[in-house]
Amino acid sequence: MPLAPASISISRATSRLFALVPCAGIGERSGAQGPKQYASLAGRALVAHTLAALASVRRLTVTLVVLSPSDTQFETQVPGFGGWVSRDGGATRAESVANGLAVLGARGALDQDWVLVHDAARCLLRPAWVDALIDACIDDAVGGLLALPVADTLKAERCGRVHATVDRRALWQAQTPQMFRLGLLREALAGGTAGITDEASAVEALGHAPKLVAAPLENFKVTYPGDFELAEQLLKARAR
Ligand code: C5P
Repeated sequence: MPLAPASISISRATSRLFALVPCAGIGERSGAQGPKQYASLAGRALVAHTLAALASVRRLTVTLVVLSPSDTQFETQVPGFGGWVSRDGGATRAESVANGLAVLGARGALDQDWVLVHDAARCLLRPAWVDALIDACIDDAVGGLLALPVADTLKAERCGRVHATVDRRALWQAQTPQMFRLGLLREALAGGTAGITDEASAVEALGHAPKLVAAPLENFKVTYPGDFELAEQLLKARAR
């Protein structure tokens, strides 16, 4: 395992903030040729946009990217990345995150330090949204997540037809980053990662109530074939 670059000094005086980016998926639903994190969008790999946004968040000590053990592309697709890289990805997103927490611990992160877990596939992230999450959670006992209040009317389906209309009034769509203390998140994921699709749900299972911090629709996760074109148009518009 490579050691931390010498330029990253770790002070133990206060809780630090680490970013952890699970990036070991294969993007099954994306229709992309290879892993979706390396799809080219507006001139660079999708994940390079994600990491550039995190690199602009001044309060983050360092970002750890968790890759698949078989990943051979990261260093060429994201040249000059200044954070930490590990090839400890697991079979599911939750396993990749749990393995990443162990790597952070091995590199000196402490239980009271904050970890902001962010999907590699949310490449429209803006540093200001991360700062808003940090501001909202830094003094909180539990932590929280970026999320979007549901705007559309929701339908529950049975056999291709509407089974019921779901009351959307208290519903939010979970996004990332999700910000929790390392020790709490490790404990939450130690309870088993089966069926866990975000950190908050694991923390909820311990009986905690994570804070919801509103974020825009633009922070969507590139998932389906049509999402790549939309993400590229938005990235190009920002560059203009
Ligand atoms: O597949 P999905 O879009 O839900 O993945 C969300 C994030 O989790 C992506 O950044 C993906 O690379 C990551 N992931 C992972 N390890 C897996 C599966 C997904 O790091 N085994």
